[in-house]
Amino acid sequence: MANAVVIGAQWGDEGKAKVIDYMTERADVVVRFQGGANAGHTVNAGGRRYVFHLVPSGIITPGKVCVVGSGVVFDAEQFLAEVDELAEAGISVADRLFISDLAHLVLPYHKALDAASESAPGAVKIGTTGRGIGPAYTDKVSRTGIRVGDLLNWNVFLKKFIRNNDAAKLRVQTPDGKPAGDIPDLDEDEIITRYHKIRERLLPFIKDTAFYLFNAERDGMRLLFEGAQGTFLDVDHGTYPFVTSSNTTVGGACAGSGVGPKSIGHCIGIVKTYTTRVGNGPFPTELTDDIGFHLRATGNEFGSTTGRPRRCGWFDSLLVKKAVQLNGFTRLALTKLDVLNDLSEIKICVGYNIDGKKVDQYPTNAQELEYAKPIYETMPGWKQDISKCKKLSELPNAATDYIARIQKLCYDVPVLLISVGPDRADTIEVAGI
Ligand code: GDP
Ligand code: IMO
Ligand code: MG
Repeated sequence: MANAVVIGAQWGDEGKAKVIDYMTERADVVVRFQGGANAGHTVNAGGRRYVFHLVPSGIITPGKVCVVGSGVVFDAEQFLAEVDELAEAGISVADRLFISDLAHLVLPYHKALDAASESAPGAVKIGTTGRGIGPAYTDKVSRTGIRVGDLLNWNVFLKKFIRNNDAAKLRVQTPDGKPAGDIPDLDEDEIITRYHKIRERLLPFIKDTAFYLFNAERDGMRLLFEGAQGTFLDVDHGTYPFVTSSNTTVGGACAGSGVGPKSIGHCIGIVKTYTTRVGNGPFPTELTDDIGFHLRATGNEFGSTTGRPRRCGWFDSLLVKKAVQLNGFTRLALTKLDVLNDLSEIKICVGYNIDGKKVDQYPTNAQELEYAKPIYETMPGWKQDISKCKKLSELPNAATDYIARIQKLCYDVPVLLISVGPDRADTIEVAGI
């Protein structure tokens, strides 16, 4: 397999981790390159369920190396909790899990700031995951952030931490607009004691990961880049301001891991065969009726990070077409097809009606998207369980017709695989890679 990047084609939770886990066998190194513990990546394999927020989903495959790149905003406490969970499951990460020294730390004050900005009077409520992502990227871009490498020298870390924590005390406000001051989340002494211990545990993981990846590639190792969130949560190309704070599209892979564009072979778009979204923001094909409820219940559409119910709706081809344009997908992986098993008919959005005008391209203007009324095509459902199908030829015709229609609408990008269940084994491989 050539190196490959895996990117969510919609609003996240497309099943990226399932595909990463499936593909890891053919790779040597799995790399997270953006986002942080806002990601909730679920892998079902060997009779166990793992949910990763920071550790790359390739970690459960023995012998594979995993890298947390420089573009990730890194919550050390969450990371170590995942390392502990892996140890409990009998999975050792020693000498095969590395964190970039350039990754920015998410510290307790970032979470306090995240919560405060979401509850501030008059603020646009994004519906964030509360993991401190926006404030951590804000510090990074405003050049006041603290990086993982700063932990190498405790005094350097301490100085920067006290400066930032004090500044945050002035910025964090209560919902009625008063400075929150000494809330427990910002108790300096307690956090310093905690981070002193965290530092000790973290040191062996810290590396110049860009140099590591450069050499790994020269040694013939194959790299698999694990995107977090999805194309329409991209800070530039997504449904701004209802987005996350990183570039979730393919460009983020180079910037966030320190490799050149030639290191990217395939770009695999993970496409849920319907649409979901967690948090606020426009969602033209959202269903608030029984079918939406059915999709949520059948697809277990509850956030892997926050447990929030995901908003559910029909497949939107304008969205995925735009994702193909933005990411240059060379393969699609279609997921959760089994969730549609019981529906007698299935709708596909093939256009929007915006102020009486029919469009077949995703509008970049967020206001237009708010008012867009979906134009649907209806296809028959298959009304049978497909979760045991192992080959394309075993799928009912109505299911292959639905896949073919999605593919046709999305520039005929070849379909790499179809996922028909949460387990690694519930996968139908279609095209080679
Ligand atoms: P990610 O963030 O893109 O990795 O996706 P999540 O892990 O947040 O959400 C995907 C959910 O769907 C997880 O609970 C997966 O176990 C599950 N899942 C993945 N693929 C399939 C599939 O083909 N069918 C079903 N029924 N569940 C799936
Ligand atoms: P994975 O990798 C789905 C959403 C939040 C919110 C917005 C901003 O599991 O697909 P943030 O906490 O990033 O500032 O929140 O982005 N969001 C996700 N939605 N899947 C994710 O990750 C998400 N990460 C962030 O719900 O709307
Ligand atoms: Mg998720």
